[in-house]
Amino acid sequence: MNVGIIGSGTMGSGIAQVAATSGCKVKLYDTNQAALDKAKVALDKILNRLIEKGRIDETEKSRIQSNIEYVDSLKDLSDADLTIEAIVENLDIKKKVFSELETYVSNDCIIASNTSSLSIASIASSLKNPERCIGIHFFNPAPLMKLVEVIPAIQTSKETLEKSVQIISDWKKVVAVAKDTPGFIVNRVARPFYGESLRIYEEGIADFATIDWSLKTLGGFRMGPFELMDFIGNDVNYTVTETVFTAFYFDPRYKPAFTQKRFAEAGYLGRKSGKGYYYYDENGKKIEN
Ligand code: NAI
Repeated sequence: MNVGIIGSGTMGSGIAQVAATSGCKVKLYDTNQAALDKAKVALDKILNRLIEKGRIDETEKSRIQSNIEYVDSLKDLSDADLTIEAIVENLDIKKKVFSELETYVSNDCIIASNTSSLSIASIASSLKNPERCIGIHFFNPAPLMKLVEVIPAIQTSKETLEKSVQIISDWKKVVAVAKDTPGFIVNRVARPFYGESLRIYEEGIADFATIDWSLKTLGGFRMGPFELMDFIGNDVNYTVTETVFTAFYFDPRYKPAFTQKRFAEAGYLGRKSGKGYYYYDENGKKIEN
């Protein structure tokens, strides 16, 4: 099966690894050559780490790498059976890419978006054949996280849904089908998780570390809310909150917090910038105080 991935950032490169590991021929496309180069180097590092841990051998590494081609033109995805878009979380930009993509791919190619929070119906409306459009939402890091939400829009055909569920299951992921509503399942539940934690901090009830400690030690969460926001990126996370809040007609349950807005504005993005609610070294490892 031929898979086209649009956007070779955090999510696109992870999804490419998942598809290539399952034996698909992947074309990973980005407008930014540096992002393509970075994705290639990052995959090499990840696969070397898997070899060190004894999970794969050199032959498997070469097989996965040879299944991925790094391309700099959208036209190169013309032979895809499935495309998954993972570019910037901006509806207008996504719609533009989708309508161009449709002119290159065959009529039965499934055109999917990995959006965290945008309406699949809106994205699908940019296509002449919107019934082939669907949300396929991976979690970060895509190769490790088992769950994938599959989101049919009101325009999506039954065939597109069934095929998508089959493909993602073949990629050894667990599928949850969700309706096309802001944040779907996980990102909707996660909004109050982050929001309430930020409010507890803003009200001076506890600091970041204490809130994280409480939820991990007492609540059984693997990561605390501030660690998770740093992991996802305060810019990405803030944008999702803002989108969900607006899409729910400004329901106060999803109201974004100024603390996170200011952190995003200051460039305190989390692991990727070396500073967020905590400090990180050049390998993204948290520096303990
Ligand atoms: P990222 O910023 O790491 O990567 C985005 C990539 O898209 C960049 O390499 C950029 O050069 C490229 N790009 C931008 N415009 C483009 C265009 N017009 N054509 C081709 N490439 C283009 O972003 P990330 O975090 O991978 O997010 C991508 C999508 O996945 C977003 O919709 C986001 O909401 C969603 N998502 C993000 C998650 C996360 O934890 N970061 C989790 C699940 C979904």
